[in-house]
Amino acid sequence: MIAISAKVKQMAVGIFDSGLGGLTVLDAVQKRLPDVPFAYFADSAHAPYGVRTADDIYEKTTAATQALFDAGCDLVILACNTASAAALRKMQEGWVPEGKRVLGVFVPLIEALTERSWGDNSPPREVDVKHVALFATPATVSSRAFQRELAFRAVGVDVEAQACGGVVDAIEDNDLILAEALVNSHVDALKRKMPHPDAAILGCTHYPLMQDAFQQALGEDVKVFSQANLVAESLADYLDRRPEMIGSGEACFLTSGDPKRVSNSATQFLRREIQFQAA
Ligand code: DGL
Repeated sequence: MIAISAKVKQMAVGIFDSGLGGLTVLDAVQKRLPDVPFAYFADSAHAPYGVRTADDIYEKTTAATQALFDAGCDLVILACNTASAAALRKMQEGWVPEGKRVLGVFVPLIEALTERSWGDNSPPREVDVKHVALFATPATVSSRAFQRELAFRAVGVDVEAQACGGVVDAIEDNDLILAEALVNSHVDALKRKMPHPDAAILGCTHYPLMQDAFQQALGEDVKVFSQANLVAESLADYLDRRPEMIGSGEACFLTSGDPKRVSNSATQFLRREIQFQAA
């Protein structure tokens, strides 16, 4: 069980990831919504999630979300595709307590790819992109959640998924040289299956930290979609409709791992001082 200390009670919108990847989402939502306090929780002690089973991911994601609820958040964003893919649907179907909300990062991305505005539930239709490369963790790829959500909205889109083993570990270990080498080899593997994608999805919130490497390996004519700004827009829209979810607490950064180590890596990634505290 994870418990968050009482001194951070009364906080506001919770942002959860297994580790540092959700900081790419946090950065974008903070820029878009500078007056909203965010409580970021990194389950660094258990990262990476992407090599775990769906049941294990569900258990860890519900424990982390519960800890954010207990600390005073009414709304938690799963800034983690792996948790969104493997756990969110089951959480929304029966686990989320009354008065609380949990949102994921998949749908805003798929709405952008399929040229839809928020909540457009009209039948699936033809869209511009025809050949989409999906880069994600092994658990996200095997869940097929991306293909399922896409099929609700678009027809005739060919998706080739590449499970990018090792990239999250390399980023968490701050080994960007290894991360770049792995990105190149995963893009090569994808191109052997789909030589000319029109679009690529960075379906893991860690990957925007390697966006230049993905773009370079894919080539300039492939449109690379990453989530941060899309999630920020969609959250702004949601909070406009549900302002009571904002709260009035203080922003904070919490981790189940070693706060010093996590703070160092986070500061390097976001290029601004980030101080994590122990959850
Ligand atoms: N950043 C997360 C995601 O979006 C989790 C990666 C992991 O822990 O394997 O999938």
